[in-house]
Amino acid sequence: MFDDLDRIMDVMAAAFDPAWGEAWSRRQVDDALAIGNCHYRLVSPQGQPVDEGEKAAGFSLSRTGYEEEELLLLGVKPEYRRLGLGRTLLDTLRDDAASRGAQRLLLEMRKGNPAEFLYSGFGFYPIGERKDYYRLPNGERIDAITFACNICNAIATGLH
Ligand SMILES: CC(C)(COP(=O)(O)OP(=O)(O)OC[C@H]1O[C@@H](n2cnc3c(N)ncnc32)[C@H](O)[C@@H]1OP(=O)(O)O)[C@@H](O)C(=O)NCCC(=O)NCCS
Repeated sequence: MFDDLDRIMDVMAAAFDPAWGEAWSRRQVDDALAIGNCHYRLVSPQGQPVDEGEKAAGFSLSRTGYEEEELLLLGVKPEYRRLGLGRTLLDTLRDDAASRGAQRLLLEMRKGNPAEFLYSGFGFYPIGERKDYYRLPNGERIDAITFACNICNAIATGLH
């Protein structure tokens, strides 16, 4: 039987290419959730909440701040991509974050990650860059881009 941490780590192992070094360890996820200001959502292959005993197709992990919610991780298993599950997880994150008092969503992403197409289509826009912020397992450096999404705008313009 899978518990939710197992489900998150099952997606993590499949969704995050080790070449980028972006996957979190089980310990990191467990610690983040223990603090109390981090939240996760799981999605089934059909875009629904995950039933007991079922594996997830994707997950999101976010951290609540003052009137802001930062998306820390978003992953969908390769075999379930381009079916709208990433978008479903962002829709849920927006609604969850709004209910926790967030005015905007934030995220940071390595430059060149195709996830940018998903984020920009959702209403995220770039607000800053950090030169050479990420260090890859092979030692290469990659810039980070920070994105924001105004929750009111996303809802008002019907971007979901
Ligand atoms: C990014 C990720 C979560 C997207 O999940 P997904 O379920 O495939 O996304 P969706 O199906 O909801 O995509 C919705 C739209 O976003 C855009 N999009 C998503 N992935 C894209 C890609 N690789 N290239 C171009 N556009 C993309 C498209 O417009 C897509 O709509 P379409 O399929 O009708 O063209 C998934 O590719 C992933 O897990 N990547 C590896 C982990 C990662 O880098 N996560 C982000 C940083 S934490």
